[in-house]
Amino acid sequence: MYELIKRDGLAKRGRFHTVHGVIETPVFMNVGTAAAIKGAVSTDDLRGIKTQVELSNTYHLHVRPGDEVVKKMGGLHKFMNWDKPILTDSGGFQVFSLSDLRKIREEGVHFHSHVDGRKIFMGPEESMQIQSNLASTIAMAFDECPSSIADREYMRDSVARTTRWLARCRTEMDRLNSLPDTINQKQMLFGINQGGIYEDIRVEHAKQITEMELDGYAIGGLAVGESHEEMYRILEAVVPYLPVEKPTYLMGVGTPANILEGVERGVDFFDCVYPTRNGRHGHVYTNHGKLNLFNAKFELDDSPIEEGCQCPACRSYSRGYIRHLLKAKEMLGMRLCVLHNLYFYNTMMEEIRAAIEAGEYKSYKEKKLEGMKNGKD
Ligand code: GUN
Ligand code: ZN
Repeated sequence: MYELIKRDGLAKRGRFHTVHGVIETPVFMNVGTAAAIKGAVSTDDLRGIKTQVELSNTYHLHVRPGDEVVKKMGGLHKFMNWDKPILTDSGGFQVFSLSDLRKIREEGVHFHSHVDGRKIFMGPEESMQIQSNLASTIAMAFDECPSSIADREYMRDSVARTTRWLARCRTEMDRLNSLPDTINQKQMLFGINQGGIYEDIRVEHAKQITEMELDGYAIGGLAVGESHEEMYRILEAVVPYLPVEKPTYLMGVGTPANILEGVERGVDFFDCVYPTRNGRHGHVYTNHGKLNLFNAKFELDDSPIEEGCQCPACRSYSRGYIRHLLKAKEMLGMRLCVLHNLYFYNTMMEEIRAAIEAGEYKSYKEKKLEGMKNGKD
């Protein structure tokens, strides 16, 4: 159940009630694709860096260790020792981005595993069954994420199929939630809006999926090669057609600036690999822009990554020491950078929520962007 607590312009401050506790929105979900946050970050670490939601992937966990294994181990929450909400992506997107040998049919997608090359089939029913075995808090619909350069005709056919798949997801999820041996019988289902950069296809699709009264609505197929301006234009076109009394999730986005702009246009859930991936490469976020800790200028720098930051890296270590760890390929270097970056994102979301509550979102956003503009992201 989603409670809309406050609006500031289009920005939403919400509270989403789940069987695994409350999600305060806007929220940034921390990506742990294969039931692990890359960079040797434990779920105990997540509890210390303000993480509200962990995100894992259907496709990866189906391939390894297998969703049946996770089910036998008591579900994802027990398996990874995380009792707060978990969202699982449906596998659709990962199949499209990871596998080259794939055939899309009405029934689903035939493809080869990126681990051992074996043939796999995944359709809406299979995706729901896997997510039900994983027992995540929120399951995502099985969709096609078409290329950003797909032509109108392809996009129209693809979106129509994604809508038919959504109806099948819904039926299968209802069936699974009623089975006695289902771990989470209250598993929620979010639909995914597609349509590329074609506003009319997006809006038509948004209206169709809204009628299905799902637990939440995602906007997919963005940040796949189009410009930031195009992404903002699509958000402005489509968000007004998604229900304001349900959570709105912008998938795979993005930079701090993208998130600030997304919130202003009414988005309340985000996820992205940037803070983890950048952290593993020694790129860290600060309120004065992004730093590359490999840079020689940090060799003798005894200040923390960010003055005043309360993350586990900044509370104890200097830029110079972390630079040394990174250069020596010590795992601790990556780990500290990832912890700092996730803490930075999670703290920004906290600030965003406070700014909306205070009715000061626009001025907060402008100040934050102005401060960060020295950095590339
Ligand atoms: N992650 C980022 N974009 C997408 C998308 O369009 N669909 C799905 N399922 N996941 C995504
Ligand atoms: Zn820090």
